[in-house]
Parts: sequence; C-alpha cells; structure tokens
Amino acid sequence: MDWSKVLANIPPQAKEAEVCTQFVPHLLEALGFSEKERLPQFSTGAGNDCVDFAARKNTSDDVFLFTRNEPDLLIEVKGRFTNAGGAINLTENSHQYVSTREQLKRYLLSPKCKSAHWGIITNSSHIQLFRCHDKVVTPATECIELTEENITSVVNHIKNLIEDTPRCLTVCVYNNKGGVGKTTTTINLAATLVTQKKKVLLVDFDSQRDLTKSLGLEPSSVKLSECLTDNSLDIRSAIIPFKLTQKSGKSNKVYRVFDVIPADHGMEAFTHQTQSRIQKGAARLRDLLKPFANEYDYIFIDCPTQWLFFSKSGVYAADAILIPTRHNDLSSLQNAARVIQEFILNDVKKIRQDGGPIALPIFFNGSPADGRSIDMAQKEIEQVIATAKTVDKINLVPYFFPKIKPGDMNKTVFNLPDYAVVASSAFARVPAVYKHKKVLEYYLALAREYFLNE
Ligand SMILES: Nc1ncnc2c1ncn2[C@@H]1O[C@H](COP(=O)(O)OP(=O)(O)O)[C@@H](O)[C@H]1O
Ligand SMILES: [Mg+2]
Repeated sequence: MDWSKVLANIPPQAKEAEVCTQFVPHLLEALGFSEKERLPQFSTGAGNDCVDFAARKNTSDDVFLFTRNEPDLLIEVKGRFTNAGGAINLTENSHQYVSTREQLKRYLLSPKCKSAHWGIITNSSHIQLFRCHDKVVTPATECIELTEENITSVVNHIKNLIEDTPRCLTVCVYNNKGGVGKTTTTINLAATLVTQKKKVLLVDFDSQRDLTKSLGLEPSSVKLSECLTDNSLDIRSAIIPFKLTQKSGKSNKVYRVFDVIPADHGMEAFTHQTQSRIQKGAARLRDLLKPFANEYDYIFIDCPTQWLFFSKSGVYAADAILIPTRHNDLSSLQNAARVIQEFILNDVKKIRQDGGPIALPIFFNGSPADGRSIDMAQKEIEQVIATAKTVDKINLVPYFFPKIKPGDMNKTVFNLPDYAVVASSAFARVPAVYKHKKVLEYYLALAREYFLNE
C-alpha cells in the first residue's frame, strides 16, 4: 500500500463522503478485508442507525457481502471538515471525539452488531481502535494522529490486534477506600458470571489474603509472590481451582467453580526493596497474566485499598476498573473520583500508552432501598463533579451518573442492596450468590448492568 499517495489524494478539507471513498477502502484492504468482506452503511438493527462500514472475514460457505450478518469490525467515519465547512477535531477528549466515541459504542452494542469485537473511529487525520467484550468497550490503542511517517506501523498494529482477538477481559475491582466491598464484589460477581457460562480466574493481589481466606484456599507450591520475582516460574502452577460439592441424588458431585491465584504470606514481606527487584515494577502483573488472554472470559483482580505496589499493579494489569462505593460514606465517593481522575486517567493511562484502562461507572454497594439517603449521596456526588469540573476541568458525569443524557437528567446510580447473607457467607467458604437466590439476583443485575450483553 502506497500510503503517501493515498494521503496525498485526500483533500485537506475532506468531507465525510470523501474520507469514505478516498481513505476507508484502503484502510480496510490494509487491515486484510477483501471487497467481499466489507459493507458500507451497515444497518445496526437499532432504529434507522447505520454505521459507515462493517467488515468480517469470509468463511468457505459464508460471504459477508451477501449474508450481511455477524460483523467483526465497525468503522465510524467522520470528515476532516463538516459539509458546512467547520473543522472536525478528533483529538482525544475534544467534544467531537467524545461524541464519535459514544456513537461507536452505541453501534457496537446494537442488536445486529453484537458479534463485533472491534470498532474504529477515524477521519483520516486521527484513528483509534476500540475493543468490545460483551458489554464493555475499551480503547485498544490511543487516539493517534496519522502522518505519512507513522501510518504504516499504526495500521499494522491495528491489523495485528484485530487478528488476535483475546477471549478475556481483565477487571480490577478497586476503590482507594477500605470496607466498600471490593473483595465481596470480586467473589460474588465472579461466581455469578460462572452461572452465565463464563470461565473466570480470580487473582488475590492483596497481602491481607481476604479473598483467599474467605474461599478457604491455600496457595499452591508455586506462589504468586515468587512468580513476581522469579521469571523462570510458571504462573499456571500457582492456580488453585475453587471447587464446590453439589448433591445429586444420593451421590455428591464435585465441580470446579472458577480458578484462583491465591495470595500468599510472601506478599506480606514485600518491602520496598523486594519491589524494586521486580523487573518492570507495577507492570509485572500485567505480563504475568498475558498467557491467560485466551483461556478465560474474565479475570478479576482483588486489590488492597492503599495506592501502592499491589493496587497499582492491579489497575495497570486491567482493561476496566470496577469501583464500589458506599452511598453513606462520603470519602468512598471522593476517593472514587480520585481513583478515576488521578490514578486511572492520569497516572496509569499515561504509562500504558494503549488508551487503557477505563473506569466503569461507580456503584453503591450495600445501600438500603430508602430514597432519602440515596438523595443525600447524589447531592454529594454533584459536589464532587462540580469540583472536578471547576478545579481540574474534568467531566466526571459519565463515571457517576452514566444514565444522564441530553434531555434526561436521570441520576440513578446502580445499587447493590445490603444483605446480611452476603457478610456471613465468608465464614461458610461459599460465595453468597450460591447460598441465597435473592443474592444471586442482585449480583446478576450487577453483571448485566456492567458486563453481560444479552
Ligand atoms: N452487599 C453487601 N451486603 C452486606 N454486606 C456486605 C455487602 N458487601 C460487602 N459487605 C460486607 O462489608 C464488609 C467489607 O467488605 P469487603 O469486601 O471486605 O470490603 P473491601 O474489600 O473493600 O475492604 C465485609 O464484612 C462484607 O461482608
Ligand atoms: Mg478487600
């Protein structure tokens, strides 16, 4: 592909129609899609919505051009200029970038696009690849400004990513506040996803070992703390299956619920010195988990509260961060804002340089159904949002009030009710969702809100 020729042919003030004819066909070809593997104006199945392009590799008896179903990649195209002549700026966080990204997200979750794992936004000056896993859309690259010099490597990088779709989404459950339900959420959400046929791995990355203990597990002979420092060890050997026994008639059937990499005592002894011996520091856990990208549907990482080595590692290793808060705990709301603003969007995202990780909207863990206390929490959140807006020029609305849309000031925050069985089941070494139908319903609602795209 002679990209310099292609780029030279795109008018500097190209409208969307020109980007569609002069740029996107070349892009799709370079990404490995033949003419019979792509369609313009693909109907998403949501009203009259159409995404500009859809693509999928053909199989021997299924030609995408003819069957027009199960797309794998969607491309939402913008011009360099609008038809009215205004410049379209797709630089990350510009107004037009945000609206285009949200448009792509909506398409990726539309009825006829549920098969799509990938989405691109581009106006031929900028390009960004997103990945869609069940309901979660995460950036797979940064939003990159295309130049004659970088376009070949950028397109190759995107091609390599979409040709190797990972099976797994890695989620870190984190808030910089203790007792908000990080460990409880990790265990019960994982156990719930198992009931929905997902294969799940849990990583206890908290030296207090709450998760490991509440499942009644002991580390294997190869320990997580050793794997961090010793590159020759095989992390797979650190996995312990969490099993439960089911009564079926007169016999008992033992089944594997999910896999766990338990925390071990070696982690307690992690001094500053040990940590500095770990190659790549807080980036090490992400590398350690790479071999599991095609083995699990979800990996959940449980972290301690303090923003130190373990939590930094967990957030760095994740595609998405799920943030539990308490509606009646002001600092859990303020700390959530800090996690999003400082730790995720500033610290980790800058070092990762692949556009990730993302923060999922916060939820209230263990709140009563009464409206008054929820109202008070909403007022606090409004304060937190206002401060972030004036002091830091950051829009936290989507992270706290994700249901707010133009013309609809819906300030509902997802609420996981308080339920005594949840707290007591840790003593029984069984996730609460398996002890009580009601609890399973609660966590299934959480799984549907954030993850499952049914
Ligand atoms: N939805 C809930 N209903 C009742 N108790 C809960 C709920 N979520 C968490 N808890 C309890 O709250 C306490 C703190 O939860 P935990 O998961 O240990 O928090 P963290 O990991 O954030 O420190 C635990 O005793 C736990 O059993
Ligand atoms: Mg915990």
